[in-house]
Amino acid sequence: MGKITISVIKADIGGYVGHSSSHPDIIELAKKDLGKAKSEGLLVDFRVLTCGDDLELIMTHEKGENAEPIHKLAWDTFLHGTELAKKLKLYGAGQDILSDAFSGNVKGMGPGVAEMEIEERKSEPILIFMADKTSPGAWNFPLYKMFADPFNTAGLVIDPSIHDGFKFEVLDPHKEETIVFSAPEEIYDMLVFIGAKEHYIIQRVWRKSDNRIAAASSTQKLALIAGKYVGKDDPVLIVRAQSGFPAVGEVLEGFSFPFLVAGWMRGSHHGPFMPTSFKEANPTRFDGPPRVTCAGFQLADGKLIGPRDMFDDPSFESARRKSDEIADYMRRHGPFEPGRLPLSDMEYTTLPEVRKKLEGRFKKA
Ligand code: F6R
Ligand code: MG
Ligand code: MG
Repeated sequence: MGKITISVIKADIGGYVGHSSSHPDIIELAKKDLGKAKSEGLLVDFRVLTCGDDLELIMTHEKGENAEPIHKLAWDTFLHGTELAKKLKLYGAGQDILSDAFSGNVKGMGPGVAEMEIEERKSEPILIFMADKTSPGAWNFPLYKMFADPFNTAGLVIDPSIHDGFKFEVLDPHKEETIVFSAPEEIYDMLVFIGAKEHYIIQRVWRKSDNRIAAASSTQKLALIAGKYVGKDDPVLIVRAQSGFPAVGEVLEGFSFPFLVAGWMRGSHHGPFMPTSFKEANPTRFDGPPRVTCAGFQLADGKLIGPRDMFDDPSFESARRKSDEIADYMRRHGPFEPGRLPLSDMEYTTLPEVRKKLEGRFKKA
């Protein structure tokens, strides 16, 4: 078998109820559509999962990254699902379908995309993270922990196969520029940028010793595409694990501390990033708190053996409890920062309309 591509393409095409979860009929419809593509030979394999109100299409194939037929398949599946979502009057039906003319690639059209083309190893454990009620910068913190922090990833110190470290590609979505940093030598420079997670987003990580791809994230920011707030991006992330990459447990350890991310209610608040099982990823309190789930797979000639629901483990109970404590604490800030996002990040929410309304009332002091 040649190279295999893992494409994770996701969109919110309608919430059930409100923005809290997904309707089972939409999932069934997507499974049928992808099942047909598999029987026709376009896909090697697929799984349809959800995280909150987001529909996650996990596909393997041999067409490479940014392949038009794969993107078209995802796009058509989202359009088909949107028709049904409209019939069921699901909330925000077709929310992430920001354009009506497909032109070869879903990037820039609303859906989020993470893809990586790999040479499958003798055994290939893959972890796919899915988030709801937050933005792509949410991956910066755990990616740093997994691939650059020896207090998180023991292998960086004691496993010769990753001791050289990793390279990080960081995107500035505002300027549409990327820069590559090499860890550990450049971590202080890199942290200046990736610490500003709403502005700089880690989009790829490679192993330094042989340039093998280790992680790929979705970096699409809906507000930058639409020019206004149209719902949070709810990103996805693909990570390879074991034998020359961080171990599965080192990758997951990056989520053991529920750090604050931007999103939550109206995409305008800071909330803890809560790791949950698939069945607990239905954010309800104040439309949150933001959720992250992880689907684990073993690849076998492109076949997806899995998923295992990786956060369905009592060892993440304390992170969930801590998330609830943090949620209480952050909620008590009400409309005050840092409960609410800083003004710069509110540019892309509903705030500009309020400011416009009051424009004439600001007098020179
Ligand atoms: C956050 C999110 C929700 C909505 C909120 C208001 O990503 O989607 O918190 O912003 O429920 O929704 P609308 O404006 O549709 O009533
Ligand atoms: Mg929604
Ligand atoms: Mg969502």
